[in-house]
Amino acid sequence: MRRRAVLGLAGTLPLGCTAVAQGPAAGPGLRDLALARSLTFGTAVRSEKLESDPLLSTLVAREAELLVPEWEGKWDVLQPERGRFEFGPLRAVLRFAQANRQRVRGHALLWHEAMPAWLAPALQEGQAQAQQILETHIVTVLGETRASIRDWDVVNEVISAPPGGDNPSPTTGDLRPSPWLSALGPGYVERALRIARQADPTLRLTFNEFGVYSDTPWAQMKRERLLRVVRGLLDRNCPLDAVGIQGHLQMREPFRAEPFVEFLTALRGMGLAVLITEMDVREPDVLAPTLEARDAAVAEYAGAFLQASRDGGARTFLVWGMTDRDSWLLSDPGVARRDGQATRGHPYDSELRPKALRARLAQIFSS
Ligand code: XIL
Repeated sequence: MRRRAVLGLAGTLPLGCTAVAQGPAAGPGLRDLALARSLTFGTAVRSEKLESDPLLSTLVAREAELLVPEWEGKWDVLQPERGRFEFGPLRAVLRFAQANRQRVRGHALLWHEAMPAWLAPALQEGQAQAQQILETHIVTVLGETRASIRDWDVVNEVISAPPGGDNPSPTTGDLRPSPWLSALGPGYVERALRIARQADPTLRLTFNEFGVYSDTPWAQMKRERLLRVVRGLLDRNCPLDAVGIQGHLQMREPFRAEPFVEFLTALRGMGLAVLITEMDVREPDVLAPTLEARDAAVAEYAGAFLQASRDGGARTFLVWGMTDRDSWLLSDPGVARRDGQATRGHPYDSELRPKALRARLAQIFSS
């Protein structure tokens, strides 16, 4: 039996208090609602928060079927010094998942961020050394996680970002400039995927990307770039099983289902699975006057994206954090709001009360 939180405090609340209790929403958890439709719902987690915060860990245990480590699977954690691997934080996530009968997906075997200080200079030691470094990392990590993680983001954010969108890349090529591209040339994506397939032949290999969802010229260009790169990989018989759509939504960007569904359909037509790996919502510069109205707008925008994802064949949906309190949209200056307002971009608020987005997720998983 899954843990059921004790709810139903509404009748005991003093007058004037909101009737929404702190903790998981009443009724079935999102994990069970999704599972009943053969869908999977999950979230990014940080091991130290799960360990130190019982309210959060209860919420995550009840709501999420699938966990992804927010930083524990990145290079700077896993290989802080050259040749020295550190699996402690990742094992903490795996232990939590095991205790709650949850699955874990891995993130990320190759990324141009979260690189330990030694890595970029080491990659410049020549192509043979760079290849060796990549191979040692992937083989060692997959050797560790073979029994516990069956889906990894092998490459993360390798497509170059056109002008107009977030963090535009100074290139018109399909791949972003990065230490990996400089060291190994454009074949590095294929190399990483082949190494991963060889190291763990039944692992699901996922290609994860941001900035490909909105109805804007830059997202359209990025979709085309991604399709070109992925088609090229498959044409060369490169192993690849899935494309992860991060889904860091930005409400200032228009969304329309049709081009996004078409994109997902094209990927599925190539035999790939598509999944939503990191959904959260950034609100527009001008906010509605009440929290209730802001939450309704967030739910509406994200709901349209989620419904289109489902229509396009996604069966796995992860949010990048369950609560506004534990969000990188609060703590990371690169993505936090400039006006100092706290984010409302997650299913639960900073007091761990469910919001309209949580209700919308439940609705989409129940329909
Ligand atoms: C973010 C984490 O949430 C932050 O805490 C960290 O400071 C930076 O990385 N795309 C990704 C994730 O693939 O790994 C990023 O996670 C968010 C954007």
